[in-house]
Amino acid sequence: MKGKISMTMLRFFVLCAVVAGLSVAAGAVEIRGKHASEGLKCVDCHQVDKPVAAASVNVCLECHGGYEKVAELTKSLHGNPHDSHLGKMQCLKCHRIHRASEIVCLECHSDFDFKEK
Ligand code: HEC
Ligand code: HEC
Ligand code: HEC
Ligand code: HEC
Repeated sequence: MKGKISMTMLRFFVLCAVVAGLSVAAGAVEIRGKHASEGLKCVDCHQVDKPVAAASVNVCLECHGGYEKVAELTKSLHGNPHDSHLGKMQCLKCHRIHRASEIVCLECHSDFDFKEK
């Protein structure tokens, strides 16, 4: 009898730990900036409701059109990040999605003035 209760208790504590662990993991990944204000859901990029791994970069192009389209959006900047001597780069080289973008151009051109995305 005593053993049975503690097994039940043990199962309960294990369950609590698992639930707490999952909510910490889920809380760590947020939708940022305009993707949040435009009401995107996890499934819009990951194709599943509860993603655990990275999304495919192909989804970016489905919503944003091709590289030429994003290059058009930023053509007025000095140093178009989407049309430069580095050529076409994978979106995720700069846009980290769940954290602030890391613009590779700035490694060499620290004077370029880009907005935080
Ligand atoms: C705008 C598209 C987009 C949306 C919306 C989005 N994700 Fe992601 N997510 C990505 C991309 C792209 C990666 C890969 C990032 C990388 O490799 O730097 C990723 C990576 C992840 C990863 C892998 C771990 C990590 O941090 O790289 C998890 C887990 C994840 N996303 C969960 C979520 C959850 C949960 C939601 C909804 C709250 C969500 N994502 C919404 C695009 C998106
Ligand atoms: C389901 C459609 C959808 C998908 C998929 C998507 N986006 Fe977006 N994204 C939007 C919308 C809508 C906006 C807001 C309007 C705009 O700036 O074009 C936006 C805005 C952005 C912005 C400007 C962010 C800001 O906060 O100002 C960046 C950068 C961006 N997306 C990159 C990406 C990348 C990289 C991917 C692939 C991982 C991706 N998007 C996938 C719909 C999408
Ligand atoms: C070399 C780094 C880099 C790469 C690669 C890159 N971007 Fe960007 N992107 C930027 C920077 C920097 C900005 C902000 C420019 C500014 O100051 O307005 C930006 C802005 C954007 C915006 C907002 C444009 C606006 O003002 O409305 C979208 C959408 C976007 N990027 C999508 C993409 C997509 C989709 C890809 C892949 C096809 C991509 N980017 C690849 C650096 C990059
Ligand atoms: C590895 C270093 C390096 C990286 C990364 C880099 N550049 Fe350059 N870039 C150079 C060098 C070197 C020159 C030629 C010398 C000069 O004129 O500054 C140059 C010249 C330029 C010029 C013409 C000169 C000027 O300042 O107007 C532009 C525009 C430019 N780069 C844009 C970009 C953009 C946009 C990115 C990111 C997509 C980028 N570069 C990434 C090294 C780099």
